[in-house]
Amino acid sequence: MRVMVIGSGAREHAIAWKLSGCPSVDRVFVAPGNAGTRAIASNLSAQAEDIPTLLLAAKQYDIDLTVVGSEVPLAKGIVDVFGQKGFQIFGPTRDGARIESSKAFARQLMDRHNIPSPDFKVFQSYGDGYEFLSKHEGPIVVKADGLAAGKGALVCRDREAAINALYDCMQDRIFGNAGAKVVVEEFLEGEEVSVFAFTDGENVSALTAACDYKRLLDGDRGPNTGGMGSYAPPDFWTKEMEAQVRREVMLPAVRGMAQEGAPYKGILYAGLMVTSAGIRALEFNCRLGDPETQVVLPPMRSDLAAVMSATVNGGLNKVKVDWGNQSCVGVVIASRGYPGDYRRWLEIQGLEELDEDILVFHGGTVRPQRKASQLLTSGGRVLTVVASGPTLDEARQRVYENVERVSFQGHHYRKDIGMTEKMVPTNRRVIGRR
Ligand code: AMP
Ligand code: GLY
Repeated sequence: MRVMVIGSGAREHAIAWKLSGCPSVDRVFVAPGNAGTRAIASNLSAQAEDIPTLLLAAKQYDIDLTVVGSEVPLAKGIVDVFGQKGFQIFGPTRDGARIESSKAFARQLMDRHNIPSPDFKVFQSYGDGYEFLSKHEGPIVVKADGLAAGKGALVCRDREAAINALYDCMQDRIFGNAGAKVVVEEFLEGEEVSVFAFTDGENVSALTAACDYKRLLDGDRGPNTGGMGSYAPPDFWTKEMEAQVRREVMLPAVRGMAQEGAPYKGILYAGLMVTSAGIRALEFNCRLGDPETQVVLPPMRSDLAAVMSATVNGGLNKVKVDWGNQSCVGVVIASRGYPGDYRRWLEIQGLEELDEDILVFHGGTVRPQRKASQLLTSGGRVLTVVASGPTLDEARQRVYENVERVSFQGHHYRKDIGMTEKMVPTNRRVIGRR
């Protein structure tokens, strides 16, 4: 098989790396990729959201299977376009991707199929939303309906903050048209977990779970980021919980989508809150998580290409998905200033000093054409360094021993990734009075 991975982050590097080790895979292409993917695959100069150019690349390079990393091309309908032209592609159609691209759609789907989730209301006018929020004390969560690069959920401490958030979304349009519609929902407390399964539209594979760290600084302080690290599996992820999430969340969503005429294929990613009253679905995503992918793919024992093919073609029930039993910790090394402005083109040092079994997935790196021996930063989240081990403690120790050997000017990483005893719910962005 010749496979093409679409994207340029550490998640896509991890997917390309895993696929390159599959017996059925002859060649891996990444569009557009980065310096890390260039070392294991062929990078193509097509941008991840440029569907016509990606289609041309699939034709030119005779691609048998395309794998999409991020939600944006999926929500734009890349799977529909490739499918119409007879190309096999992994991921949901545009209609299927609504599970992520419209939070109102996802909430209503959960409601119709009795998936445990917070109480919610959808508003299409600022006036109606204002009237509702005026009668509510808070805390409460205000969410832009559409895609907002993971920033569209505003957790508000009180009434005033909630009304401000509504104003920002609907009147100021800080998320553009994504905020034309807003979901307001009950605030939940608990531990967050990202759960992943493959589905061919009918069958749901074994599930796996990981926790990510969204905030910039140790102890979940500082601004929200694209993710500063992750680990898998969480200690509270038991066989019983897996069975419950399959029964109460994954199967009803997949069956619901099929019944409603939009069969869903690809990865189903459920963002859950484990509350004292049980599990609740916070959101669905239509792809693998970043940085969770960097810790769930390394321990995986199954042939990823075979699993992805069965997901696209049906018959996933005949393929065993074995996520392995190693613990895995991934630490993101970022540039100073990220998630705000940061410097680029800083030389990265120390990668050759890492232990042999340590994985490094590149997020924002390049090698200059004139001096290919140099590795430079080109993004905010530069590298994810990953270690596996029989226990979480061991994996964490190994990863930090190695992270310390990597450097570039002003590099920054969290020191508490995988320290479960300090884990507090992640991703929380609480907006106070302004
Ligand atoms: P979402 O994009 O819907 O996953 O929301 C992003 C983040 O906001 C989640 O990872 C949670 O940390 C937080 N969040 C979303 N919905 C809720 C909720 N109902 N209660 C508490 N926190 C939430
Ligand atoms: N780790 C969160 C996400 O991928 O959306």
